[in-house]
Amino acid sequence: MAKENRPRLRAVALLLACVAIAGSAGAADASKVEVAVTIKADQPGPVINPNVYGQFAEHLGTGIYEGVWVGEKSTIANTDGYRNDVIKALKALHVPVVRWPGGCFADEYHWRDGIGSREKRPVKVNTHWGGVPETNEFGTHEFMKFAEMIGTKVYISGNVGSGSPQEMADWMEYMTSNTVSTLANERRKNGREQPWEVHFFGIGNETWGCGGNMTPEYYANLFRQYATYVKAPRGHRPKIVASGGNDAGTTWAEVLTSNVHRDMDAISHHYYTTPTGVWANKGNSLGFPEKEWISTLKHTMQIDEYITNNEKVLDKNDSQGKVAFYVDEWGTWYNPEPGREPGFLYQQNTLRDALVAGLNFNIFHRHARRVQMTNIAQMVNVLQAMILTDGPKMALTPTYHVFQMYIPFQGATFLPTDVTTPEYQLGEYSVESVNVSAARDVAGNLVLALVNLDPNREAVVTTGVVGAQVKGASGRVLTSGTMDAHNTVDAPEAVKPTAISAKKAGGKWVLRLPPKSVAVVTFQ
Ligand code: AHR
Repeated sequence: MAKENRPRLRAVALLLACVAIAGSAGAADASKVEVAVTIKADQPGPVINPNVYGQFAEHLGTGIYEGVWVGEKSTIANTDGYRNDVIKALKALHVPVVRWPGGCFADEYHWRDGIGSREKRPVKVNTHWGGVPETNEFGTHEFMKFAEMIGTKVYISGNVGSGSPQEMADWMEYMTSNTVSTLANERRKNGREQPWEVHFFGIGNETWGCGGNMTPEYYANLFRQYATYVKAPRGHRPKIVASGGNDAGTTWAEVLTSNVHRDMDAISHHYYTTPTGVWANKGNSLGFPEKEWISTLKHTMQIDEYITNNEKVLDKNDSQGKVAFYVDEWGTWYNPEPGREPGFLYQQNTLRDALVAGLNFNIFHRHARRVQMTNIAQMVNVLQAMILTDGPKMALTPTYHVFQMYIPFQGATFLPTDVTTPEYQLGEYSVESVNVSAARDVAGNLVLALVNLDPNREAVVTTGVVGAQVKGASGRVLTSGTMDAHNTVDAPEAVKPTAISAKKAGGKWVLRLPPKSVAVVTFQ
């Protein structure tokens, strides 16, 4: 061996010895991170409104037609025209509220087109979404029956952009009147004796854009005018929702709360998550690099700051907390899938979307005081959907599973947490490795939701509970081998939740959270 190599060998030996010593002393393991969580069960916060788990179903692509409604004559298994498989899956999700008929579609929708004999309903063009025929087969009666079938409240979006106060008032009367008015009798003639309950009514949608390209000041006056005529029988008045801003904006909340002093129960806000942050090239739903994994998670968490800034405006102008903040459109939006109509907004839904859902819920819980409703966009076959259909087949998405895992948070009491977590970093992006949210559910149990954002490292999460005695902790975790793992109608169970439980150690609960995962654990 050459003499000059000896110092290098000594250095290698020294390094190996150091690694051995470090290993035996339990030094940092690159395959896992350590996280500490304290649940403060003695400091209960606000109730998490179940409507935070709301959905949005627009006349867009195959969201309604094919996705929910196939008609009585379809060969796809249905009850009175509604897909049996989709109805069953939605019932299991405990959907608290559904927003309908849009979106941008709402400001071109004229409710009279969708009542009466289906054969006689006019065929219109869905100009916003693909320029396809809108048969109006699915109208008010069909939507209300759908809501009853899945057991959900209804949030109707009224037409401000191309409608009139009279048209809006008539629709409300048609739906809710228990009198012998001509409109109420027309409803009866069309098959519905009892008035429906309209729980929420939106005065327009995105009035800064597809809903009329208005200024907030102009819309504030229109809101005052339209809301005056949205009437319902005593005790049945819906909550009236003003169309608000989007993304980082606070101007709409500022102008609305400064200029509207009655009838406004909530202001809506929209925020869509894209991997790139560039609308013209958002990024793909499948086959994306790790850089777009972390950027998507980083971008989605920006909603925390956007809500906080709007809350500050509301707290300043509405100190009594009368006006709620509804995030009535949120979720991921990717590039159109090759070979599909771009205007249909169909996209695959992967484990990344599951993490997006979990992170948004954890954020919404923290803002439970003002954020009293959110509606993911959208329910079936559109954007970050719960369900994807293909002919007679159906697949539940990873997002569906997260909605189901989080059911214990509906109506639960928020509990603050202390979290010590390392950062997961890649390139210019840095996010916390683990994000959590805790609550006491309606049955009195503590629930903890955890998201491990790091796609490469397991998180060993040690949880302590202050102010409550717990005997055990178990729940479900959603994960998979790849960042873009997803379900298809031919492989519908590729991504599904499995059991997870915590072990007791030193008076705390230790949970091994796989890389890239979402878990919800109940402490008994
Ligand atoms: O959800 C798709 C569209 O996104 C909605 O119609 C519109 O309100 C928003 O721009």
